[in-house]
Amino acid sequence: MGKAFDIGLDRLTGVGVPESDKPNMSLRTASEGGLYTGQDKGGRPLCEETLGLADSPCATNNGQTFYLETFGCQMNEHDSEKVAGVLLARGYRQVESVDAADVVLYNTCSIREKAAQKVFSRLGEWRPGLESSKLSISSSKFQNRETQDPGSKRGPGAPANNTATGTQPGMDVPQKIIGVLGCVAQQEGQKIFARAPWVSLVCGSASYRKLPELIRELEKGNRRVTGLDTDTDETFETEITRRDNPWRAYLTIIEGCDKACSYCVVPFTRGPERSRTSASILEEVRQLTDAGYTEVQLLGQTVNSYRDPSARKMRFSELLVAVAEVPGIRRVRFTTSHPRDFGKDIVEAIEAVPAICEHVHLPVQSGSTRVLQAMARTYSRDEYLEKVALMHNAKRAISITTDLIVGFPGETEKEFEETLSLLDAVQYDGAFCFKYSPRPNTPSLRMEDVIAEEEKSRRLTVLIEKQREIQRARNERLVGEMFEVLVEGKSKKEHQWSGHTSSNKVMNFTSRREESLGDYVRVKVTGVTPNSLIGGVVEEGLS
Ligand code: 5AD
Ligand code: SF4
Repeated sequence: MGKAFDIGLDRLTGVGVPESDKPNMSLRTASEGGLYTGQDKGGRPLCEETLGLADSPCATNNGQTFYLETFGCQMNEHDSEKVAGVLLARGYRQVESVDAADVVLYNTCSIREKAAQKVFSRLGEWRPGLESSKLSISSSKFQNRETQDPGSKRGPGAPANNTATGTQPGMDVPQKIIGVLGCVAQQEGQKIFARAPWVSLVCGSASYRKLPELIRELEKGNRRVTGLDTDTDETFETEITRRDNPWRAYLTIIEGCDKACSYCVVPFTRGPERSRTSASILEEVRQLTDAGYTEVQLLGQTVNSYRDPSARKMRFSELLVAVAEVPGIRRVRFTTSHPRDFGKDIVEAIEAVPAICEHVHLPVQSGSTRVLQAMARTYSRDEYLEKVALMHNAKRAISITTDLIVGFPGETEKEFEETLSLLDAVQYDGAFCFKYSPRPNTPSLRMEDVIAEEEKSRRLTVLIEKQREIQRARNERLVGEMFEVLVEGKSKKEHQWSGHTSSNKVMNFTSRREESLGDYVRVKVTGVTPNSLIGGVVEEGLS
């Protein structure tokens, strides 16, 4: 397995060595903040050469640029950070517009039909002949690229599913490389080439390890390459990760999912569960603190199903504590937890270690045991409520958020009402609510008693409204309380700032001081909305 990250991470995150220049995140002000755009301080593109690495391929890429757009969840966002790292290390420069890019990549999501449709409509913007087509921006964007014999450039020993293929003879293809990554790529595979022949790269997240190899194939002039394996036991670890969020560093600890919920495409698109070793995770956390990060978020579709593959066999709750103990770490977050693997040990870790954030995202999906069974969620309503009780009875006030689906095949009005009553019982601090969306290959596709779209919409509205009221009431109870907030943004309005509490609530607050982004301050709550807290900094501050 490759070394886990982050050669030159300091520079990729825009902070760090040399010592003399070592930025202290707490000294960065709002005006200095802002997202890293792939250039070092001198404005040069980042590549192995500027990172001081041997055998730089920069020269070969001759100023090639890429544009990367991400759809979907935090896992996708973090995958994109790693993809960007791989490209930056190969001498590519990231640009903010498709027009300026030689390589255009879409990291896609297919969890619900709407998300997948969005990707295809984005790809449709490239359709040649369309007046608005991005490919008609300039005729010089076209050329008759060399026609390849399918597979002729396949490297020796390259797996069958890692292919370089030719284009149809005589077809005009864009000079730009257009690539589809992520879940739609995995789900649709080669079919994408038929639907959008201007696409050259199709690579699912389970094959990201092969991305550099696939990119090499394209650089050699191959027209089409795919990476579609899912039977890998590897995780996508890269030498370099370009991090977009200057305050919260995402870190995948487990990839894929073995849970097989009957409505979900993730097990098909992201493959089986693969965990990273605890040693490689802790090494990455140390590198992140060296680079100035104080908050990390451990990621996985089922993050608490983590199984340390090394002899150390660290449990997930032990890993949380070990990460929190890395000097410099002030906040450890983790998402998403699966109820089946959520136990007392995790709550005890949160109780014992203040740096482990008092927030658990625990998707329930439905409040009805019958529906949960049909969803193959592996727990009943009562079993879920037992896990919630562990948190309600904890020594710290743990904020609980969830995901909910309405209109699953066969969901009766009474069963929907059980979901509503679950909201009363749990008192969530936040909920992502979705209408059931039938997805390819999933067992629920064959289930009868499909709920009409209008009825799904009605249930969704009722659910959202109820949850909004619960949130408002819960937030109102916090008026007058004090919270530690990580300062993450400055509003255009004078003296207005924003950040998150340990419980992951958004806090918009007033401070007459010139706060430093990345600092921790004490804020007193003075007002609320259903989705955020409003407050003012307490002058004597904690930070
Ligand atoms: N339809 C609707 N929502 C879905 N989710 C996953 N698959 C589907 C689907 N087919 C939701 C679940 C999951 C979240 C990430 O997306 O609530 O927890
Ligand atoms: Fe999908 Fe279920 Fe896995 Fe979550 S636990 S990713 S809903 S299969």
